[in-house]
Amino acid sequence: MSLIFEKRLNQHKQKGLYRERKILQKLINVQRIYKSKIFCSFSSNDYLGLAQHPAVIKSFKEAVDHYGVGSGSSAFLGAYNRFHSELELGLAEFLDFPKVLIFSTGYMANLGILGSLVKRKDALFVDRLSHASLIDGVRLSAAQFKRYRHNNPISLEKHLMQSTAQRKFIITEGVFSMDGDIAPLPALAEVAQKFSSLLLIDDAHGIGILGKTGKGICEHFACKPDILSGGFGKAFGCFGGFVAANESIIENLIQFARPYMYTTALPAAVAKAAHTSLVLLQTENWRREKLKSLIKHFRKIAKHLDLPLLLSNTPIQPILMKNNEEAMALSAYLLQNGIWVNAIRPPTVPENTCRIRISLSALHSENEINRLLEQIALGLKLIKINDDSIR
Ligand SMILES: Cc1ncc(COP(=O)(O)O)c(C=O)c1O
Repeated sequence: MSLIFEKRLNQHKQKGLYRERKILQKLINVQRIYKSKIFCSFSSNDYLGLAQHPAVIKSFKEAVDHYGVGSGSSAFLGAYNRFHSELELGLAEFLDFPKVLIFSTGYMANLGILGSLVKRKDALFVDRLSHASLIDGVRLSAAQFKRYRHNNPISLEKHLMQSTAQRKFIITEGVFSMDGDIAPLPALAEVAQKFSSLLLIDDAHGIGILGKTGKGICEHFACKPDILSGGFGKAFGCFGGFVAANESIIENLIQFARPYMYTTALPAAVAKAAHTSLVLLQTENWRREKLKSLIKHFRKIAKHLDLPLLLSNTPIQPILMKNNEEAMALSAYLLQNGIWVNAIRPPTVPENTCRIRISLSALHSENEINRLLEQIALGLKLIKINDDSIR
């Protein structure tokens, strides 16, 4: 039996898909210390640099003193406390939705929504580049589903026209985690209305970043879906997930979402820290502004160096590579030169679209970005020379 598992791993390695974890010694904002060397990291989703904000850390420590580290049980069995409740209320007000429910992770939030609200006879229409947690939620629901072309409301409409299902759900990310582009929310909302479908947007990477005050894709387009999911692990610099929707949807999730009911609740200290991040998101606007200006700077210099950018105006800036080996080679080259950027390969992204994924933080400097881009340009040249000499 174990031979089967070994064979699988070997095949995985041969395809260049094997993933390794590096043991980090220390993290100081965008600096990572690994094997006693300092790296400038462009691989974290802590876009606003709140993960090590003194006020966030202080809140976490204070709440630990009050409630301990682990929450001890599921929300129903006594773990739900005032920090969870205050965070839910604060987030509902910030996002301007009637209700919010906190999940232990963003992944579980998506499983919870799709696993509990969707029935077998329903039809689901999902953007083909949607995050694994949405795809897994779709599968869990056991309903029939179609994938529409990425960010393409016409393709979505074509699929909807062929559906005879009574209840239909449209499912997409807001800011796409591996591409950095933004779903055309107003057009999707129009299609949803035309076909009486429910629209679910996972804006894990948009909330805190998009919109004048950081409310995410809804503020960016002044338009709302029926259900919004997100997480505290990105711009909030914390951990956990949430869903915003109307009262009856949230009450359905509380009563029927198994990833909410049958798991240990988010630790109180994490909820308290996330609440402090929520306040900082609103008061420290300079972080969002600085990030915007760094994104502009990054794109200007990258274009100047003729780097193959995707169409993204968010902190997620991928550079497409020819194949897995080249993506891995560039990532390794950057690491050798003190820069931490991950290669992203299938199945995280579709076949033949492997890339390096650069994520920018408000705590980066223009100089760090200049050095990153110079090294990418150099690394690409070296890879090309090697490639030509092999041929
Ligand atoms: C779009 C999207 N949705 C959901 C998740 C899952 O969130 P979490 O890390 O909180 O489980 C992620 C992140 O990994 C994500 O990128």
